[in-house]
Amino acid sequence: MAKKRILVTGGTGYIGSHTSVELINEGFDVVIVDNLSNSSIDMLDGIEKITGVRPDFEQFDLCERDKLQNLFKKYPDIEAIIHFAASKAVGESVEKPLLYYRNNLTSLINVLEVMNENPKVSLVFSSSCTVYGQPDVLPVTEEAPIKKANSPYGNTKQIAEEIIQDTIAANPAVKTIALRYFNPIGAHKSALIGELPLGVPQNLIPFVTQTAIGLRQQLSVFGNDYNTTDGSCIRDYIHVVDLAKAHVVAIKRLVENKNKANFEIFNLGTGNGVSVLEILNAFEKATGVKVNYKIVDRRAGDVEQVWADTRYANDELGWKAQSTLEETLRSAWDWEKYYRSKN
Ligand code: UD1
Repeated sequence: MAKKRILVTGGTGYIGSHTSVELINEGFDVVIVDNLSNSSIDMLDGIEKITGVRPDFEQFDLCERDKLQNLFKKYPDIEAIIHFAASKAVGESVEKPLLYYRNNLTSLINVLEVMNENPKVSLVFSSSCTVYGQPDVLPVTEEAPIKKANSPYGNTKQIAEEIIQDTIAANPAVKTIALRYFNPIGAHKSALIGELPLGVPQNLIPFVTQTAIGLRQQLSVFGNDYNTTDGSCIRDYIHVVDLAKAHVVAIKRLVENKNKANFEIFNLGTGNGVSVLEILNAFEKATGVKVNYKIVDRRAGDVEQVWADTRYANDELGWKAQSTLEETLRSAWDWEKYYRSKN
């Protein structure tokens, strides 16, 4: 039987590269489109070393619709798209809102228009727990109300989900699963692919590993006066490989017509809330390395605490995050060490 072909936008990025590996391992053909604005072409080598297969790759910006249309002429057998490609830095989005609205929404609209022209193609969309803001009830379920976004980045995810729903209302042939990620961290166990932030990391774990390896002097912990057990913020940190595997499950659900509605939403998290200070303890336990840190003021726009109710994803997708926090942190550390030894 011919392999099913999946288009992975943003496939050289952090989550995209890990998902491409899992798709190839499960027997899919992968075509990656990426403009390399926040990723490295070297990730293709990593994917090839891990899987033995080099995915097809096209470098262009998804805001250019004609290029996407041409891609579908070149690969008319694409059955589904996983749309990762987007800008994702919360702080930058506050400074450059129009860049975020243009990038994240134009690319999605182009993807949906091309799907209208190719009606059998379905979509898995990268959404985020950011759509919940600070939930009133924890753990947060998919039914929780959407709160006003606290950044333009978060707003692009909310608007994107609305654009998808309106598109489906007008064209019921379009099938989409939106996956709301909590905090993906860690790296593939081979350490051949991982998270590669440009410049000073904005996210916690790359800052932790860069401090541990001596690239940064000190981690700033943003606040210890929150209403949590130790005063630092709480998140739901999920191993990126567990997250990647959920995408394969979602893709199979769509291409095998097992979806129960044309727009489905699933939380992807572990169900465990972990504080920033607990992360630092767990990192030391997992790696033996103590991270130098100081407590500083709260970061504007941070949510105090959020973690996932994973029951719907677990029951309906038959998927569950498997890795322990320590394994996950060790994989992030192995990647940092491997990457710095090569670069
Ligand atoms: C946020 C969004 C998420 C988005 C991601 C993209 C929420 C709940 N989540 O993740 O949807 O995809 O940005 O970047 O809005 N921290 C420090 N010191 C640091 C860095 C972080 O203490 O140097 C703390 C933060 O205050 C936070 C935690 O670590 O409590 C995690 O921060 P980060 O990794 O940036 O992710 P989120 O802000 O949770």
